[in-house]
Amino acid sequence: MTQEHRQKSGFETRAIHAGYEPDEATGAVIPPIYATSTYKQDGVGGLRGGYEYSRSGNPTRTALEGNLAALEEGERAFAFASGLAAEDTLLRALTSPGDHLVIPDDAYGGTFRLIDKVAVPWGLAHSPAPVSDLDAVRAAIRPGTTKIVWIETPTNPLLNIGDIEALATVAHEAGALLVVDNTFASPYLQQPLTLGADVVVHSTTKYCGGHSDVVGGALVVRDLEVAERVAFHQNAMGAVAGPFDAWLVLRGLKTLGVRMDRHCDNAEKVVDFLVAHPQVSDVIYPGLETHPGHAVASKQMKRYGGIVSFRVRGGEQHALDVCGKAEVFTLGESLGGVESLIEHPGRMTHASVAGTDLEVPSDLIRLSVGIETADDLIADLERSLGDGPA
Ligand SMILES: Cc1ncc(COP(=O)(O)O)c(C=O)c1O
Repeated sequence: MTQEHRQKSGFETRAIHAGYEPDEATGAVIPPIYATSTYKQDGVGGLRGGYEYSRSGNPTRTALEGNLAALEEGERAFAFASGLAAEDTLLRALTSPGDHLVIPDDAYGGTFRLIDKVAVPWGLAHSPAPVSDLDAVRAAIRPGTTKIVWIETPTNPLLNIGDIEALATVAHEAGALLVVDNTFASPYLQQPLTLGADVVVHSTTKYCGGHSDVVGGALVVRDLEVAERVAFHQNAMGAVAGPFDAWLVLRGLKTLGVRMDRHCDNAEKVVDFLVAHPQVSDVIYPGLETHPGHAVASKQMKRYGGIVSFRVRGGEQHALDVCGKAEVFTLGESLGGVESLIEHPGRMTHASVAGTDLEVPSDLIRLSVGIETADDLIADLERSLGDGPA
C-alpha cells in the first residue's frame, strides 16, 4: 500500500499503517526502536535517509510523526518528550517577547503555569477568556499584538466547548493563529485542522498513548511555513521524544479508534448513572443535551469522549471522600489510559491555579472513564458515593 493511498484511507487504516513501510531489509511490520544517537555517514554529508543525529531525527520518531500527521490531516507532525515540552516549543516558535496570547479561562493547570510563570517572565502577556464565548474571545484579542488564540475543547476539567471553525475565523481576522489542544478529544473524535485551526497540540501521554505507560507530546501543523518554524525550534530546543517513547505512542495509536469508542460507551453509561444519583448535584458531559456546548460538540466531534466531571452534594470533603473510597477507579492524575481514574482537580491537577481566575470548584470530581466492564465502574461509583457525606 503506497503512502498516498494510506493518506486517503479511513481513520483506522491510517492509524495502523501511516508513517511506516515494512522495513526494506527484514520486512519488520512494526518499526524498530532505533536506539541510536548517531548514524554512519557514507562520506562527509552522505546521510542515509537524512539521518545524522537523533535530536534532529530518528526513524522511530519519524514513523510516529508521519502517523500523527495522517490522523490529524496535517502537513507535518512533531513528537516531544511531553505535552508541555511541545507547548513550550510552540510558544517560542510562534511568538517573541512583547506578543500576547488569548488562553482558556479554564486551561489545564500545567498549560496555565507554563504560560503564566515561564512565558510571562520571558515577555509574553496573556488574557484568559471562556472558549465557549466568541465575543469574549474577540474582546480579549489585542489587534496586532495577539499572535495566538489558544484553546482546549473540551476543556480540562470543566469540559467547556469552543467552536473551532468560528474561533479560527475570529483568530484569523485578527492576524492570529488558532492553536487547539486536542488532548481530550483525540484525533479520532475531532480533527481541528480540518475545521480551520493552524496547530494541534497533544499530550500523547493521554489517549494517543492510551496505556498510562509513557509521557509524550506532539504538535501537528497545517501549513509549511509554521512547520518550518516548529521544526527549527524542535531541533534547536531539543525536547524531542526518545525512540522508545515514540514507539509506545505509535503502538497506542494503532488501537485509538476502538479504545475511544469503548471509552465513549462507558462514559455514556456512567453519565446516565450519575445524572440519576441523589448525591450528585451536577454532571458535566458534552454529550448531555443540557450541556451548553452540546450543539457545537455534536457539530465538530464524532462522539463526546471519555472524560466526565461531576459535582457532589456535601462540598469539598465529600468530594475528597468519594475519591478516596473508589477502588476500580484508581485515584490518580492523568487521563486517557485503558484504566479508569478518579481525581479531585482542585487539590490535584489544578492545584496550580488555586487563587487565580482559573480556580475550579472544590466539590468537583473528574473521571477518566476507562474501558473496563461498565457495570463494575458503576458499582464502584455507587459504593463510593454512598448515602452522602459522613
Ligand atoms: C489538556 C492537556 N494539555 C496538556 C497537558 C500536558 O501534557 P504532559 O503532561 O504530557 O506534559 C495535559 C496534561 O495533563 C493536559 O491534560
